[in-house]
Amino acid sequence: MFAARAVFAAGQRRAFSASARNLSKVTVLGAAGGIGQPLSLLLKLNPRVTELALYDIRGGPGVAADVSHVNTKSTVKGYDPSPAGLAAALKGSDVVVIPAGVPRKPGMTRDDLFNTNASIVRDLAKACAESSPEANILIIANPVNSTVPIVAEVFKGRGVYNPKRLFGVTTLDVVRASRFVSEIKGTDPADEHITVVGGHSGVTIVPLFSQSNHPDLTSNAELVNRVQFGGDEVVKAKDGAGSATLSMAMAGARMADAVLRAAQGEKGVVEPSFVDSPLYKDQGIDFFASKVELGPNGVEKILPVGEVDANEQKLLEACLGDLKKNIAKGVAFVESNP
Ligand code: NAI
Repeated sequence: MFAARAVFAAGQRRAFSASARNLSKVTVLGAAGGIGQPLSLLLKLNPRVTELALYDIRGGPGVAADVSHVNTKSTVKGYDPSPAGLAAALKGSDVVVIPAGVPRKPGMTRDDLFNTNASIVRDLAKACAESSPEANILIIANPVNSTVPIVAEVFKGRGVYNPKRLFGVTTLDVVRASRFVSEIKGTDPADEHITVVGGHSGVTIVPLFSQSNHPDLTSNAELVNRVQFGGDEVVKAKDGAGSATLSMAMAGARMADAVLRAAQGEKGVVEPSFVDSPLYKDQGIDFFASKVELGPNGVEKILPVGEVDANEQKLLEACLGDLKKNIAKGVAFVESNP
């Protein structure tokens, strides 16, 4: 009995060290964009990243040459905008981050981006399914509520779908929530851990202040609205020049770092993410953002939403209705445009 346990433990150690060694190539698709550039810089500063692959339909090699002069150990390579360049950028990748696609202009919702971004994400997903089917895929391109199901459908169609490896990046919503709360309460945002569940668009973004240090904030409708529509403040201020890029790059780098830390053996890494989730499947909703515990195989455990109060229950109901439609739209797109 004891011997069997010892052998098992040795096997686990071997498996662990093998994956720890491998998990360090990070690919950015859309690396020359408003998000892609600062995100690439932040990934270059992350010592867990040993190889950084930068791809864009324009400007990837230029960004790579620039970032490569930052004196950290990782190698950086920019790839030509061609199918071969894309395949090479993806080959052997452990984490693929996708901020490729058009951003919003004033007056647009994230869903207005669907027509352009759906096909960009579908095509990039096809390349991932072909060249890096086992990588963790982190989707930033909006509308996340629909682009994540698009990637899942493309992977399913090719028989390589692993729900534990697909993440919609909703980190910016919790980053904003903690920042906005700290401004109201005069606290350090690092101490404010706000759970945000649902999706990543308007009313599908549901902050759960009743579970925070400040349960009184649950009745602060202005704050709830600011978390749900905080992205609009940036779109308006940039006045046609795009949406959040710098704060998004920070949030994307944080999510990528969490995935890498968990992959390299750190325990108890929990980040919010929009994932293939059992939480509302009985209501026909296959993807949902909640706190996710990460591990060497991607999603380790999806944490429950937990207790919510009456205000939050109403927000959740509004969220679920929209979310279901957004997800169905992504699935239908791949069905009719495979
Ligand atoms: P951007 O227009 O500045 O950059 C997009 C980049 O993608 C460009 O460099 C473009 O050449 C590239 N691109 C387009 N098609 C491509 C393809 N097929 N392959 C590779 N690269 C391609 O836009 P920005 O501001 O960087 O935003 C990117 C996306 O991120 C948008 O869809 C935006 O809505 C989304 N976003 C998501 C957030 C989130 O919280 N998940 C927050 C903010 C923005």
